[in-house]
Amino acid sequence: MENMKNSIINCATLDELEKVRVEIFGKKGALAAEFAKLKSVPGPEKKAFAEGLNKQKAELQRLFDEKMEEIKALELAKRLKSEAIDVSLYSSISHKGALHPVKDTMDRIVDYFTALNFSVESGPMAEDDFHNFEALNLPKNHPARDMQDTFYFSDGSLLRTHTSPVQIRTMMKGEAPIRIIAPGAVFRRDYDLTHTPMFHQVEGLVVEKGDKVGFAHLKWILTDFLHEMFGDVEVRFRPSFFPFTEPSAEVDISCIFCEGKGCRVCSHTGWLEVLGCGVVDPNVFEAVGYKDVSGYAFGLGVERFAMLIHKIPDLRSLFEGDIRLLEQFR
Ligand code: PHE
Repeated sequence: MENMKNSIINCATLDELEKVRVEIFGKKGALAAEFAKLKSVPGPEKKAFAEGLNKQKAELQRLFDEKMEEIKALELAKRLKSEAIDVSLYSSISHKGALHPVKDTMDRIVDYFTALNFSVESGPMAEDDFHNFEALNLPKNHPARDMQDTFYFSDGSLLRTHTSPVQIRTMMKGEAPIRIIAPGAVFRRDYDLTHTPMFHQVEGLVVEKGDKVGFAHLKWILTDFLHEMFGDVEVRFRPSFFPFTEPSAEVDISCIFCEGKGCRVCSHTGWLEVLGCGVVDPNVFEAVGYKDVSGYAFGLGVERFAMLIHKIPDLRSLFEGDIRLLEQFR
């Protein structure tokens, strides 16, 4: 008995323990041999003998189980130690990722406006006719819809052609004052050097009760914003048309490639068009049920900003995922 106990206690590995298990508890093991003796024990002593054996067997089993737990715990600790990763170890491999230039540019634009207390809104990319066109004063058969040809689903919904529907969604779920920007993907049937079927816009909308805001505020904020984005450039507001703003303007900056002298990028005009804006058209306020309010809105193409900031000649290259291009923006 003491022998058996000692052989269990002296085990140091699971393998050794397994060997001992066979030796003691196995069919031909030491315990089996003890139990075999039962046959030759005289009748009256059999019971006491058997009870004694069973007690010993239970004691051995307990020792064995304890040992098993102990060795397992030790082996686990050993494994954890040997497999530990030293995170402080210096590595010469560094494949650092970077933000895509479009995302980076979007963040910069969003940061400017959130610093001025604009909140960020979003809307669905699959829009309905009401939010994308109708409520924005673009009735069915309006010729301006042609400027924004898009992709339609069989249920009549469409891929939004601009982020302006977020203006409608925001106004319909709340009331003035509103001060939001809405960054997001938009879609048009277009594909050339400066157009891709999917691109990103940032929309802006400010609405106040009464006649508190007007074109002057719009002009101030956009001028400041463009200086923040492009540095020391000239900013020019040019009369234009959008169905959802009146008056409307397109905004140009002096060409950052030739400093306004005229080059290929600015088509020798010295100016680069960077965004559209205007004072919210009363028809839009009427469509969302707003009364006695005033507001302005603007929208810009993020890829265009990214191209100008990083001087990227072909817009399509932003979406080709070419690692050689992307690596330049680390
Ligand atoms: N939605 C217009 C476009 O996509 C941009 C715009 C937004 C113009 C808001 C005026 C006001 O071209």
